Amino acid sequence: AGCGGKDDAGSGKDDGKLVLGFSQVGAESGWRTANTNSIQTAAADAGIELKFSDAQGKQEKQIEAIRSFITQKVDVIAFSPVVTSGWDSVLKDAKDAGIPVILTDRAVDSQDKSLYKTFLGSDFVKEGTEAGNWLVKQNEGKTTPVNVVELQGTVGAAPAIDRQKGFAEAIKANPNITVVKSQSGNFTRAEGKTVMEGILQSTPKIDVLYAHNDDMGLGAIEAIEAAGKKPGKDITIITVDAVKDGMTALADGKINFIVECSPLLGPQLMDLAKKVHAGETVEPRILTEETTFTQEQAKAALPDRKY
Ligand code: AHR
Repeated sequence: AGCGGKDDAGSGKDDGKLVLGFSQVGAESGWRTANTNSIQTAAADAGIELKFSDAQGKQEKQIEAIRSFITQKVDVIAFSPVVTSGWDSVLKDAKDAGIPVILTDRAVDSQDKSLYKTFLGSDFVKEGTEAGNWLVKQNEGKTTPVNVVELQGTVGAAPAIDRQKGFAEAIKANPNITVVKSQSGNFTRAEGKTVMEGILQSTPKIDVLYAHNDDMGLGAIEAIEAAGKKPGKDITIITVDAVKDGMTALADGKINFIVECSPLLGPQLMDLAKKVHAGETVEPRILTEETTFTQEQAKAALPDRKY
């Protein structure tokens, strides 16, 4: 380890490696798997010792992992918070222990910004806005009602809150577009499917499905097909992420539009970990670069898609 000095087990020698404790949300989606791979690969490439902990979607487990990192005196702690609230106490403990914290991918709602050094990740509100803007554009000049079903991410998670917000704001531009149903599918394919099955039965007219991630959209596609409808034709589908399975469905015409959310945060995270450990000042907010994909763009991008 660095300045603090962490010994090799029993050897009494310091191997000089920076030790990063990382608490991951879980393995709920293709995006998350790609994110975990990016972090693990980047740590190895940067010569950083990574203590990786999977919270299985539970905030209690994340808090437990962070406390354990503090006890182990890691050099830097990074985590992707399952939900936005309830972090002040454990973050204060990390601060009191002199361990810098980096928020990765998702934000917390703590008022005290000194509890963490920086937040690296996407602008989720913008992602929702992009999704809504595309739909508004598709319906330009039309006066027929457009019924939208929204599959939300995990309740209380930053991407679920923000993607709903951005989308709701954007569709205000066309009063004919209405969200007729909004329900959480917890960012998973399985829940996306079961929730959509229920919605298909209870909602007579569905024109559009807006899913907060590809996986829920892909689960919903199974439900739509099982109900005898054509995804991408009978129901227009918009999702967020642009992982390979989502991009394949987009290229195949089953999804109509995807807003990209990049999971490849590993290299930037390692760079930031080194900087905060060295006591350097870093930008408090570092935004990920992202784009959007139509069906044609997905066809062109797929051969080089890494995840
Ligand atoms: O926080 C990022 C979101 O979490 C991704 O969009 C989603 O797929 C994941 O589970």
